[in-house]
Amino acid sequence: FSTESAEDLKRLIREIPDFPKPGIIFYDITTLLKHPEGLRRTVDGLAAQLQGIKVDTVVGIEARGFIFAPALAYHLGAGFVPVRKPRKLPAERASITYELEYGQDTLEIHRDAIGDGHRVIIADDLLATGGTAKAVVDLVESLGGKVVGLVFVIELEFLNGRRRLEGYDVRSLIKYQ
Ligand code: PRP
Repeated sequence: FSTESAEDLKRLIREIPDFPKPGIIFYDITTLLKHPEGLRRTVDGLAAQLQGIKVDTVVGIEARGFIFAPALAYHLGAGFVPVRKPRKLPAERASITYELEYGQDTLEIHRDAIGDGHRVIIADDLLATGGTAKAVVDLVESLGGKVVGLVFVIELEFLNGRRRLEGYDVRSLIKYQ
């Protein structure tokens, strides 16, 4: 994915200062999503990061991961599995609770969603601190899945999320420093 392509996509992302809190810039992808060429190039770009990797399942994280992961799975000829917020999934679940800067969060996956040795890609819109992605890695591995990569549309490099994902193949299309 060229720097030029990344710059083109960056121009389609709206930057909202002081949202949701003072001092934070929110990178709003809705302006990218509504742009037909922007959407296509984003999904194609994610798929291109995974060239040559055999993938059984793409796991997406609620909510914004649900925008990209199924499109990517379709593109790769893989299946899609949702990781959801608590009390949403109806069948037997595996749960993980992880620490945030202030407080905790919990995510869940269906126990039968991933089989032993399944090759899994985790996809989300944003890599920030990496806490969410690491929790999902742990969930997938607890079910016997093998995480063969993680892909993100945006990476906030200054938050060092990669540090939490050492040893895994982490890719992102657009980086902010
Ligand atoms: C955002 C984003 C990632 C996560 C990244 O989700 O979509 O899932 O935060 O942050 P981290 O790397 O610091 O863990 P959010 O919790 O805002 O949920 P949403 O997609 O439902 O809005």
